[in-house]
Amino acid sequence: ENKELILAIETSCDETSAAVIKDGKEILSNIVSSQIESHKRFGGVVPEIASRHHVEQITLIIEEAMSEAEVTFKDLSAIAVTEGPGLVGALLIGVNAAKAMAFAHNLPLIGVHHIAGHIYANQLIHKLEFPLLTLVVSGGHTELVYMESDGSFEIIGETRDDAVGEAYDKVARTIGLPYPGGPHIDKLAHEGEPSYDLPRAWLEPESFDFSFSGLKSAVINTLHNQKQRGEEINTQDLAASFQASVIDVLITKTKKAQEKYNVKQVLLAGGVAANKGLRAELKRTFDHTKVELIIPPLNLCTDNAAMIGAAASIKYKQGKFSAYDLNGNPGLDL
Ligand code: KG4
Ligand code: ZN
Repeated sequence: ENKELILAIETSCDETSAAVIKDGKEILSNIVSSQIESHKRFGGVVPEIASRHHVEQITLIIEEAMSEAEVTFKDLSAIAVTEGPGLVGALLIGVNAAKAMAFAHNLPLIGVHHIAGHIYANQLIHKLEFPLLTLVVSGGHTELVYMESDGSFEIIGETRDDAVGEAYDKVARTIGLPYPGGPHIDKLAHEGEPSYDLPRAWLEPESFDFSFSGLKSAVINTLHNQKQRGEEINTQDLAASFQASVIDVLITKTKKAQEKYNVKQVLLAGGVAANKGLRAELKRTFDHTKVELIIPPLNLCTDNAAMIGAAASIKYKQGKFSAYDLNGNPGLDL
């Protein structure tokens, strides 16, 4: 039996993760160790603390992933790792672990782009058909990515300032909610009505780019002004209004891009893909159309190594391997 087994590692931010993926689509194991509790009191990810946790966790997590999948190094086809973008110190832990194991066991090494991973998380639940369009929404990225075929990524629009997740986290922080704020805002939004009049940045008529800093500032100013006037702030309504503005812009541009590029599938990817409002509105938009909408389950939206293994499988089939001098690259292009 000639099955393809890839051990994948992800350490680009604040989750240490290892997974074993069979034939690019079947998850044999996907172990994720989150550090969120250690970063919470600082209101964001502290790079130095992240690196330290990765060092402590990485060997254990890899062993756990291998044992849960019931595989040994002899069974593996390749070792894959997120090479960027991300925190450089954090990336280096995963990259060095992967290099050491690949060298020691004479296995091919595959460096994977973190966002390619988020996109290919969708392959773990559904067969991809091209051309397709992915709405990537995470803490560091907001992009519309067009794909003509496997491994070809064309960014047709991206944020000019804040990423969606970043805007969520900053708004949450101003309201006084813990890090990461996205899920808290999402929850509040469902308890309120979008009664505040907040801006939507459409930019140029033909542009698929985004901008969320104006919206973020509008929310923060509204909060400050109401506080100063001694008025009661309806945080549920404010969260609902913020979320409505974000979702309106994201979905309108995604729909336009889907029509212009005439894609067969629309995929959702990245940590903000866990947003309940966004998921529901996307379903409403593409239900009963000829476009197939794919939305990953929550555990595959946030950072994990299974998605890195899925993306690595494409590179494995295409023979795109990395040299043993692979380095972590915090600014890696898709
Ligand atoms: O992809 P991810 O796990 O890490 C990055 O690569 O950035 O995304 C993390 C981001 C955080 O900003 C977090 O607040 C946001 O995803 N997020 C959400 C939700 N769940 C996580 N944002 C909005 N609604 C959610 N339910
Ligand atoms: Zn991510």
